[in-house]
Amino acid sequence: MTGTVLGIETSCDETAAAVVRAGADICSSVISSQVDLHAGYGGVVPELAGRAHLEVLTAVVAEALARSGLDGARPPVLDAVAATVGPGLMGSLLVGASGAKALSMAWGVPFVGVNHLEGHLFAALLEHRRLAWPLAVLLVSGGHSILVCMEGPGRYRRLGATLDDAAGEAFDKVARFLGLGYPGGPAIERAAAGGDPAAFDFPRPLLDDGLDLSFSGLKTAVVRAVRSRPEARDEDVAASFQQAVVDVLVAKVCRGALAVGAGGICLAGGVAANGPLREATSAAGAELGIPVYLPSRAMCTDNAAMIAAAGWWQLEHLGPSPLDTACDPALALPFVS
Ligand code: KG4
Ligand code: ZN
Repeated sequence: MTGTVLGIETSCDETAAAVVRAGADICSSVISSQVDLHAGYGGVVPELAGRAHLEVLTAVVAEALARSGLDGARPPVLDAVAATVGPGLMGSLLVGASGAKALSMAWGVPFVGVNHLEGHLFAALLEHRRLAWPLAVLLVSGGHSILVCMEGPGRYRRLGATLDDAAGEAFDKVARFLGLGYPGGPAIERAAAGGDPAAFDFPRPLLDDGLDLSFSGLKTAVVRAVRSRPEARDEDVAASFQQAVVDVLVAKVCRGALAVGAGGICLAGGVAANGPLREATSAAGAELGIPVYLPSRAMCTDNAAMIAAAGWWQLEHLGPSPLDTACDPALALPFVS
């Protein structure tokens, strides 16, 4: 068995399909973004997202098969079809998962239901072959901020998590407040490039306190500061906010890595695409003598290659998922402790 898996991801606002061999060789990765569709609303509109997935899924899957050269044979020579079954928007999850189940039935290959968060954890494994376990992985996305001790694929221990907003949510809310647009992370990063990170001394929530995170106070501090200094430049606010987030995230992942004697530090999730966060994490890891494994930026934000990789591992070690596997908008990571 070559372990060729078609992955499908539709949990939020990207319709994605990818073909990955043996959980590591990316034969194709196609992403159709709905950013333009939602931009006018300042955030993802669940109803519109579900319908848009439905409109483009077939074409996105066909493109992924074509780019991997698998569309020559009918049915294509695949070992499984994997799709995200949660967490995410219910209407969006259903489109990808139902599509994947239909293809698995039509082609006579197993279906594998994948946890989106686990997919993000596999992103680093896709591009780095020799990792020293355990890894301290900071998973920072639009809906989640979790510090995980990854003892190996499928073995996760929870070290900490946000007590309120996710890191990506904080980027999105601050960008929205400043009128910088959606998605907020890239907009803040662009604005921050021309700003002074020391212009505002924003709080670093829980910086010296344990492994949990908190961002709602920081967001409120930004709003208060801008209201009291309306003449402040957006660039300076963005740069100071970003610096505060980066300082906290780097401190937490390093503290977590030292606490578990990690053989490596990883970042995962959309916020891990942030340039200053990547640079600061690499520098901190070098100072501690702990290798830092960063997924490429494209593998940090939502994609289907990470779903195919996680699906392959799951198929090999846990077997296929039943076709009546339900989607779960609140699916959690399967922690062993
Ligand atoms: O992992 P992801 O693509 O989707 C979820 O699973 O949520 O993460 C999306 C989040 C959004 O909040 C977005 O603003 C943030 O990741 N993000 C960034 C950057 N690119 C995306 N945050 C900071 N800097 C970036 N360059
Ligand atoms: Zn995600």
